Amino acid sequence: MAVLDADRVVAALRGAFAREAGRADLLRTAAERIRAAGAPYTSVYLYMLHGDELVLEAFAGRETDHTRIPVGTGVCGTAVATGLDQNVPDVRSISNYLACNAWTRSELVVLIRRGPKILGQIDIDSDVPNPFAPDEEAAVRKVADALAVLL
Ligand code: SME
Repeated sequence: MAVLDADRVVAALRGAFAREAGRADLLRTAAERIRAAGAPYTSVYLYMLHGDELVLEAFAGRETDHTRIPVGTGVCGTAVATGLDQNVPDVRSISNYLACNAWTRSELVVLIRRGPKILGQIDIDSDVPNPFAPDEEAAVRKVADALAVLL
């Protein structure tokens, strides 16, 4: 079973939406609720697509210097350029990784899509190697799909 209880996070997002929370609130709620699942969720970043750049609009966990990432750059930019979610079990093994800190061991990027359009992504850093099994990835995708409807 996945560590992340996606249904609870989605319920919190729907609750916020019903209370007329704006985009910033929804994105912050998603970041905080996912991170609250605990290990392996070390830090959660919500990067949204603005033209050909990803812009950090909310996060929970460690701060990052990467507040704007061009499409095609790093793991995050590769997800948008290829249209594919990225599950990197060991960030030390890839050449296009943009490091934020010395402790991160793995990274998961799940795209937020509305139909064919990419709105942004949920980017998760973990200090644990290879923690994102298919059920864990599916849980994050549930949250991304809910955000696509509510944003
Ligand atoms: N590691 C990412 C950059 C974003 S930070 O992890 C918050 C990348 O390679 O695109």
